[in-house]
Amino acid sequence: MNDQATMPNWIHGTLMHAPRLETVEVVENALIEVGGDGEIRSVMAPASPDYDARLRQAAASGAFVNLSNDQYLLPGFVDLHIHAPQWPQMGKALDLPLHEWLLEYTFPLEASYRDVAFAERAYRTLVEALLANGTTTAVYFATVHLEASLLLAQICLEKGQRGLVGKVVMDDPEQCPDYYRDASTDDALRDTERFVEAVRALPGNTAATVRPVVTPRFIPSCTDAALEGLGAIAHDNDCHIQTHVSESDWEHGFVIERTGRTDTDALDRFGLLTRHSVLAHSNFITDTDMGTIARAGAGIAHCPLSNIYFANAAFPLRAALDKGLHVGLGTDISGGASPSVLDTCRHAIASSRALEDGTDPAAPADTRGRPGSRVGFNTAFWLATAGGGEALDLKVGKFEPGYRFDAIMIEANRPDSNLVTWADTDTGDDVLQKIVNNAVRQDIRKVWVEGRLVVDKDAS
Ligand code: GUN
Ligand code: FE
Repeated sequence: MNDQATMPNWIHGTLMHAPRLETVEVVENALIEVGGDGEIRSVMAPASPDYDARLRQAAASGAFVNLSNDQYLLPGFVDLHIHAPQWPQMGKALDLPLHEWLLEYTFPLEASYRDVAFAERAYRTLVEALLANGTTTAVYFATVHLEASLLLAQICLEKGQRGLVGKVVMDDPEQCPDYYRDASTDDALRDTERFVEAVRALPGNTAATVRPVVTPRFIPSCTDAALEGLGAIAHDNDCHIQTHVSESDWEHGFVIERTGRTDTDALDRFGLLTRHSVLAHSNFITDTDMGTIARAGAGIAHCPLSNIYFANAAFPLRAALDKGLHVGLGTDISGGASPSVLDTCRHAIASSRALEDGTDPAAPADTRGRPGSRVGFNTAFWLATAGGGEALDLKVGKFEPGYRFDAIMIEANRPDSNLVTWADTDTGDDVLQKIVNNAVRQDIRKVWVEGRLVVDKDAS
């Protein structure tokens, strides 16, 4: 825990954040004060009244981090969609469409988490890797298993990652294999309730840095009774909810055939569309769906790389943002083959450009794409930080008083790094653009969550 649990901590140096969509701010010589409870107390620029006195106080405090000219303080990244049990599969098994991929590779792998020792090995290395990549808030699907899912929550807490964790519900015997599903609808609901209680009661979880998430895998894997029951549990316990929505042609069509409605409409009727819902993918949502999602205030996890492999289409990101929907980014490990939210920023930018121009050179230019679809580095960075925080309704993702101090320090110009800056020609925005495009795990040197230093790669 923080050695100065009751002392304020101070950080001085260049900060970069995107407090609002399309607005990046780079502040040199910023001075941030963090309370012993992990909350940002103040953010001062040199022009602020009292700045000089506060800087002297900070430097004398013994709890002062002074960044060098090559070091930059950014909000930690928010990954809205991760399948924790698929970590051993990341980077392979990308050759089948979604439904076949689930049956052939993914359900057999996830079934092995009935073995808690296997789960422990995978989940520990995953949480460590994600923190090292700068992911300070992680939204996880675990598996159907209560014990292993609880272990993932415990590991987040122990390693200091802000974690939103769900025990997955899949109870429909028509769709889920015998070897991998909840024993019954009642079991699924009972285990979900137990999971919610147990996560909230974890020793040390007093600040709720780890939270339970009600997690119907997706409508095809759940019975109507389970979906209805989960809606009630989420409501009664005031929980986050996560699921997959209108991801691929197959999945989107399957739900319409079974329910006569789109995923969004069906989820809404089951009480599963709230301000605290995270809808993964959502590629095929209609204009009406967008209106329903906006009214509910639900968030979308945009998973651009996974969409290339499994979705049959690109998510209309620009349209969703223009409609005021809450959107953030998801790696979708292992549908997405990278644990890095920075990579995901690049994929979001590239995917938006591909949607804008279209991709088939045989199609006429004026019908090939969807004009006005592109997003730039500033939007991608916002999605990765403040956008993700907003989607979750958590005070993370920017440097403002009242927000939690979840942050990373990136260092440019280290030997062997691709992050190279030019002091004479790069503006602050240029450096941020280079970070979004070129920084990798090794350039992230320190990571803080809730004011606490949880990764320090330069510690001797
Ligand atoms: N839909 C249901 N389960 C999954 C999953 O594990 N990954 C993806 N990408 N989509 C899903
Ligand atoms: Fe997924």
